[in-house]
Amino acid sequence: MNLNRRKFIKRLIAAVVSIEAFFLIKNGISTKTPLTEEEKLISVGNAELFMNNKTYPFVTNHFYLRRFKDGGFMAFSVKCTHLGCVVNINSNTGGFNCPCHASQFNEFGDVISSPATRPLDTYPIIVKNNELWVDITKATTRTTFDKSQLTYI
Ligand code: FES
Repeated sequence: MNLNRRKFIKRLIAAVVSIEAFFLIKNGISTKTPLTEEEKLISVGNAELFMNNKTYPFVTNHFYLRRFKDGGFMAFSVKCTHLGCVVNINSNTGGFNCPCHASQFNEFGDVISSPATRPLDTYPIIVKNNELWVDITKATTRTTFDKSQLTYI
């Protein structure tokens, strides 16, 4: 009887260890499926709908779309490059202000007031049949603005 109890306890421990191992292995293997093309590219609509010299929030998708005076577009990450707070549009300047530690960025996303030390990241904009798509999987870090970063239709 005593031997049966030992066997039972050994088997119970083996079963618990097996179940634990199963979940450890299962959770260790990534079950995330890669984003589909539709999930990577966010459609923001027809380019003609956006007025020059205005910034449009797409905060759910974590970016601001700006159309500049010359018609060029940029998509800025909403994340402050200091510690990642969500920046707000400064309606007076067309730039961006961070509510956390008061960093300020101009309309091109360049830093005009620290503690942030580098410009806002940007996302590629793809134009398909006059429709704008933003690729939210490819944030680009920059050292400063230059005209090559603009997208034109
Ligand atoms: S997180 Fe923006 S200034 Fe600190």
